Amino acid sequence: MTRSYLMSPPEHFVVEYAINPWMDTSAPVDTELAVKQWEGLRETLVRLGHEVHVLPPEIGLPDMVYAANGAFSVDGVVYGARFKYPQRSAEAAAHRRFYDNLGWRYVLPSQTNEGEGDFTYLPEAHGGLILAGHGFRTETAAHAEAQEALGRPVVSLRLVDARMYHLDVALQPISDDNVVYYPGAFSEASQQVLRQLFPAAILATEEDALAFGLNLVSDGRNVVLSSEATGLAARLREAGYVPVPVELMELKKGGGSVKCCIAELRA
Ligand code: ARG
Repeated sequence: MTRSYLMSPPEHFVVEYAINPWMDTSAPVDTELAVKQWEGLRETLVRLGHEVHVLPPEIGLPDMVYAANGAFSVDGVVYGARFKYPQRSAEAAAHRRFYDNLGWRYVLPSQTNEGEGDFTYLPEAHGGLILAGHGFRTETAAHAEAQEALGRPVVSLRLVDARMYHLDVALQPISDDNVVYYPGAFSEASQQVLRQLFPAAILATEEDALAFGLNLVSDGRNVVLSSEATGLAARLREAGYVPVPVELMELKKGGGSVKCCIAELRA
């Protein structure tokens, strides 16, 4: 089915600060190549029949390309982001303007949270379930705030591996009621919660996770993921999905891949 997404081109992308283990301020970044790879991702989504809105990039906000972090929407209601690091905090207002223009209700957060980086939604799981990560960026108080804002149950999951500092690099929905995840990114207790909620989940390896394979976007059939994650692509194919690999190496230098670049608009 057709989905609606929001992306922001990496016209001002550089790595000039380091707020996650992937960012190396001494490694050169090819901004033009980043834009080209980003454009390939956008075209892939359009070719699959999806709608892509574009948020104009802003000078001085190099991480704005990771549009997933700007907000989290469910049922046409938007729970705004409040970034952990000051370098990114101004991105939240840009996202807010976008949703205001759409006419969606926007809930201003009082708790630190990085939008879809740490929140995801499964409309057909247990009647509609929000999964939320904490441990590195989003505070647990934001999980409760999101539940009050959105009126859907929120399940808190604790992330324990700094290389997977956001939920969306450790777990993603592959359908409306199932997920793929790397267990090692979560605490023992959170792994137990995931096993209980998603007995049919697809499990990923550490190698898949480090190739940013879990940072994918699925429409329930087509799974757009990093071309590096060949092992995960093969497993998804065996499970009946259609992997759609895209090359996004330049954006890995900021610590993100496919999903980080895409916010989903859930009307
Ligand atoms: N450099 C960005 C940061 O550390 C990368 C964000 C990746 N986005 C994501 N949704 N995981 O905040």
